[in-house]
Amino acid sequence: MNHRSIRCSKHRLGFARRAAVLSVSKLGGGSPNSIVAVKYIKPSSSVSGFPFTLIMSLNKVFKLNTGASIPAIGLGTWQSKPEEVYNAVKTAINAGYRHIDTAYAYGNEDAVGRGIKDGLKEAGLKREDVFVTTKLWSTFHRPADVQKGIDESLASLGLDYLDLYLMHWPVALTPGKGSLFPRHEDGTRDLDAEINGDFTITYGAMEKLLESGKTKAIGVSNFSTHNLDVLLKSAKVVPAVNQVELHPYLPQTKLLEYCTAKGIHLTAYSPLGSTDSPLQKEPVLIEIAEKNNKSVAQTLISWAVQRGTSVLPKSVTPSRIEANFQDYKLSDEDFAKINEISSKHSQRLVSPDWGVTVFHDDQ
Ligand SMILES: NC(=O)c1ccc[n+]([C@@H]2O[C@H](COP(=O)([O-])OP(=O)(O)OC[C@H]3O[C@@H](n4cnc5c(N)ncnc54)[C@H](OP(=O)(O)O)[C@@H]3O)[C@@H](O)[C@H]2O)c1
Repeated sequence: MNHRSIRCSKHRLGFARRAAVLSVSKLGGGSPNSIVAVKYIKPSSSVSGFPFTLIMSLNKVFKLNTGASIPAIGLGTWQSKPEEVYNAVKTAINAGYRHIDTAYAYGNEDAVGRGIKDGLKEAGLKREDVFVTTKLWSTFHRPADVQKGIDESLASLGLDYLDLYLMHWPVALTPGKGSLFPRHEDGTRDLDAEINGDFTITYGAMEKLLESGKTKAIGVSNFSTHNLDVLLKSAKVVPAVNQVELHPYLPQTKLLEYCTAKGIHLTAYSPLGSTDSPLQKEPVLIEIAEKNNKSVAQTLISWAVQRGTSVLPKSVTPSRIEANFQDYKLSDEDFAKINEISSKHSQRLVSPDWGVTVFHDDQ
């Protein structure tokens, strides 16, 4: 059984809480795919006579091709307002998260950075205990701007280094237009003619960042198998990660197989189906969640982790942040049922119109 409750009396809790902090902190250099942490959670109404319950979180990590470990569950922060995300990040670190995902384009790196700093302090942890990812925005794709992009992100986050720096999209937009999404007068995207669709130029500049020590790993996001083929022809460093939309309506099976074969770890974004998720109403998921006495969100997160992908549930709601960290072991039967969902319902939920093909695997 992977998900165990341990009842304990009040006087044992002090020891247990210290044990929790100690074992979670092992994550930074822990072995891959190991179950390591004992996590303190809030009082449980199900335990009569004892005010506290300890739960074993699965707390898996995956090994990257750099040798580093990436914690399976990370906090997503897209569309989290700065004033909300500061508390969300602190709550997450206190709940046991050791992986935070942000991006220059989210406009919240400053608040995320403050949340990391204060969250680590409150939990008695150090910088190296948390895995931080941010992303190079599309208006920074020219080689000279790649340096500027990471420097601006590090300054906003208040960090000396990143654990992972991703190319956010395989699309370059013209810089210097005072907009994250510059457009021509006719409304079409202002694609950067200097880069002319060649993301390998940008990736080459990102490779140089590894020598500077400003990031421990580099990777990509929203890359299809087609674009990875193009990239790998000239890349000196195989991307450590490809971060893509992934959930039961878009399981990305072909991409997952491709990335696994190439040593590229796949991270699932929008794993809960993003804002106003249709997945919350999916009957198969509701049935499995109810049977296991879990939520649909916990079921989605568990499925993603069990498929070997790290996963980035976003929430600014403290109770959800804590609950989303409680993944559980799905039976083979439930796992197979979730794998089948996309044969009846297939849907991409995040699909900006870039004016160029990005999602080749959907065609
Ligand atoms: N690389 C990329 O291009 C890219 C694109 C999209 C996303 N991402 C990353 O992936 C992260 C996750 O994706 P996402 O933000 O699109 O969506 P998501 O994590 O799939 O879903 C977030 C939504 O689900 C709600 N929610 C969270 N926990 C819940 C629970 N237990 N029960 C019910 N609802 C719950 C959240 O509401 P509350 O916050 O109100 O609780 C929010 O509305 C992003 O935040 C970002 O870090 C990356």
